[in-house]
Amino acid sequence: MKMPEWARVDERVAAAGFGQAVRTLPTAISVVLRLAWRTSPRLTLLAAVVHVVSGCVTAFGLLATANVFTALLAQGPTPERVVQSLLAIAVVTGSYAARALLDAAVAAVEGALRPRVTAEADDAVTAAVVRVRLIAFEDADFRELARQGARYGVRAIETSLRRLADLTSSVISLVAAMITAGLLNPWLAPVLLLAAAADGWAAARVAKLNYRHFLDTVGRNIRKSVVEEVATWRSMALERHALTLQEPLLGEYRRISRSLTREEIRLAHRSNLVRTSGRAAAGFGTAVAYLVLGWLLYTGSMELALAGTAVLAMRTASTALSNTMRAVNSLYEDSFYIGFYNQLLAESRKRQPPPTSVAAPADPGEIRLEGVTFRYPGRDNPALRDISLTIRRGEVVALVGENGSGKTTLGKLLTGLYPPDEGTVHWDDVDLALADPASVHANIAVIAQEPAEWPMTAANNITVGRLGRPDPERQAWREAVDYSGADEVISSLPSGENTVLSKKFDEGHDLSGGQWQRMGIARGIYRNASVLVADEPTAALDARAEARVFAGLQHASRSGRGRRTTVLVTHRLANIRSADRILVLEKGRLVEQGTHDDLIRAGGVYHELYEIQARAYRP
Ligand SMILES: Nc1ncnc2c1ncn2[C@@H]1O[C@H](COP(=O)(O)OP(=O)(O)OP(=O)(O)O)[C@@H](O)[C@H]1O
Ligand SMILES: [Mg+2]
Repeated sequence: MKMPEWARVDERVAAAGFGQAVRTLPTAISVVLRLAWRTSPRLTLLAAVVHVVSGCVTAFGLLATANVFTALLAQGPTPERVVQSLLAIAVVTGSYAARALLDAAVAAVEGALRPRVTAEADDAVTAAVVRVRLIAFEDADFRELARQGARYGVRAIETSLRRLADLTSSVISLVAAMITAGLLNPWLAPVLLLAAAADGWAAARVAKLNYRHFLDTVGRNIRKSVVEEVATWRSMALERHALTLQEPLLGEYRRISRSLTREEIRLAHRSNLVRTSGRAAAGFGTAVAYLVLGWLLYTGSMELALAGTAVLAMRTASTALSNTMRAVNSLYEDSFYIGFYNQLLAESRKRQPPPTSVAAPADPGEIRLEGVTFRYPGRDNPALRDISLTIRRGEVVALVGENGSGKTTLGKLLTGLYPPDEGTVHWDDVDLALADPASVHANIAVIAQEPAEWPMTAANNITVGRLGRPDPERQAWREAVDYSGADEVISSLPSGENTVLSKKFDEGHDLSGGQWQRMGIARGIYRNASVLVADEPTAALDARAEARVFAGLQHASRSGRGRRTTVLVTHRLANIRSADRILVLEKGRLVEQGTHDDLIRAGGVYHELYEIQARAYRP
């Protein structure tokens, strides 16, 4: 499976070396900090202050310990020395108590901040993805980025916030220990840093290995989740069993799974090796530090009384160091996923319609297409080629043509759902490419070829089509359920219109294909928009229901009230004999248009298709 475009971009980042990696870290940290600041400046500031104070207290405690040792190891009788050191001991104990209290304060502030930041990050991506243009969902790379960026990105932000807090406190402890060691003897501090460098190298290397692994396996992971869906989801269950595909699918799932496991084990071994060498080097650094300490004592450069504090400082430094490294490691690793998160926000922004004050007319007098060509993203062949046509208010226009000829696509373009690659779509004098999409979509109703099965009550499945436009007399409701035949569906449900239509809920009910289609038609009619596109609305309906729907759709557009423009797509040509105009599409081109009688007389594609169907009914 090919690697998604966004992952390929990041592959280049991964291959860019340590310098690039170091540059990634501040970006990730700044993303997290900015998010935290935006969520709550007060809590962010408080967290920073509590951390710094806590670090200072640690440093103070270490220096106070030096006083204890100095007092204890001074000349004179032991009881006196002990008494003299009591004050210093009290200061040390006080600093430990203060540190414990500050730790509790840190935990409290973080506990309040982290969930808020995570929610904010989650909200930002969800809002960004929700607001992209419809056409963005045709782009598989973007869909995958949306999935990964939202899932891994938000999780990485949450852990980064935790690690950032760890990093702050461990760096402050480290600095405190270094300063203490430096004050005791200037030689001790640089040796302590030696150990840090080795650990740091190992941490960065492991993070990179992990990220490489992620990129190497991203394709296989997508494949695995697709196979898993196909092997376990209810929507595929019937065909899976009827085609006895359970075992082959399981086999494929296991094959991918095994290859991923093998790679994971290899990664674990390699990381382990790198980590062990890092630790060995760090151990060597620590040994050197102790040797330096011994040498300082041996040569008399440092008093024995201060050696105890020096050891304590070294131990504090070493713990702080490994905490720092762990935090840096984790932050570095997360910085890649935060990169996805950022990329998702940027890509979503690019795919959002630019703000505009141009509004489409609510009730267009004409819809005009000029030289419209459209390609689906990633496809070379256009789905529509050079289409020019005009539809006037109140017209009932039928689109016919073979499978894949472009009927559904044309319906999406003339309602502004998809933008043309070439040519223009105008509603009166407004070019839809320049208009606010919401102003266009507010005036359209689409009965989709595969209607959405909204997981809500039967009533809401219909009324969701016009939120904010109440129907107190239930006039529109009656018309919608009557023409669509949804009334029969609703009356057959156990709790009528209040029955929940989703198998995901305990009390939920599912409908048959034709029943779902009736609900979709009712939703489209109930929306009462000035432009209605009905895309094979009756493909799954029985003959009686079909006749009623077509009569209803044509009546609604001709009844004067609103003078709705209706575009009907159907394969059953008998239904559209009375349409004002029939447009015939072939391989994305508009090849014929006219009334039924015109087209029969012309003896072209329509005539041929009609004859094939009519012949089947003749004796
Ligand atoms: N989401 C998509 N991504 C890529 N190509 C698509 C997509 N949807 C349709 N196509 C292609 O665009 C062309 C027109 O498809 P369209 O769905 O408009 O046909 P149609 O006339 O509605 O067919 P049908 O009668 O089967 O519903 C076809 O070649 C199809 O393969
Ligand atoms: Mg179609």
